[in-house]
Amino acid sequence: MTYQERLDKDRIPNHVAIIMDGNGRWAKERGLERTAGHAKGVEVLRNLLLGGIKIGIRYLTLYTFSTENWNRPDEEVYNLMQLLFDNLEEEMFIRNETRLHVIGDTSKIPSWVMEKVNHCVENTKHFDRLHLVMALSYSSRWEITDAVRTISKKVANGEIKAEDINEDMISQALSTNFVADPELMIRTGGEIRLSNFLLWQSAYTELYFSDTYWPDFNLEELCKAVYYYQHRERRFGLTGEQVEQSIK
Ligand code: IPE
Ligand code: IPE
Ligand code: MG
Repeated sequence: MTYQERLDKDRIPNHVAIIMDGNGRWAKERGLERTAGHAKGVEVLRNLLLGGIKIGIRYLTLYTFSTENWNRPDEEVYNLMQLLFDNLEEEMFIRNETRLHVIGDTSKIPSWVMEKVNHCVENTKHFDRLHLVMALSYSSRWEITDAVRTISKKVANGEIKAEDINEDMISQALSTNFVADPELMIRTGGEIRLSNFLLWQSAYTELYFSDTYWPDFNLEELCKAVYYYQHRERRFGLTGEQVEQSIK
């Protein structure tokens, strides 16, 4: 029986976040340029979008390009921007009733790329079947710093008092304020770290690490991660007995 068949259809996570890692190593093992790994990674992404819709995920947040990735060689950065430009197909989003959201410091992204991205965001904003959240030039510390700035300004101009700052207010000041925290975060490529991704939002997210390089990832692997998620006990600080009681 496949993992897809074993899934409990009533307990599919609403929001899944993915750190898509391992493109470079996948390519290197095949004697190819890193670029070839990124290109293969885009193909996988396409299939997973359809797969995500099929199993009923509503929000998929993808770590596409981190703040730190700007420090890669210019050629690789350019190549990644070009890949994004070439593969952002508005028709595919429309066909699949998918709404595109972008989070991150997009002021750094070249304007020829952002024009296309913004167009796609605008023209898909009425869709609600799947929400694809692309983290572009994103890092959690950037985002939290930006939120602190926003809230500080409100305190400075007397809109709120420092004592009134609460967790909800911080969540609302983050770029992910339109979606609940992810229930599941997956990282492919074998590394066991978060690399500055959704640090605030993942306070109680279930983490799943896969050794599979992103270009080899597929729907069945996604279902495997969801299956493991469904078999974890989410206690949120309570005892196992308390959790059992609350389910009864
Ligand atoms: C992830 O794959 C894609 C991006 C970070 C843009 P990598 O390019 O990090 O692949 P590895 O980790 O070097 O194998
Ligand atoms: C994280 O992968 C960023 C993305 C997947 C976009 P990296 O490959 O950049 O992370 P590190 O450097 O291994 O932590
Ligand atoms: Mg990497």
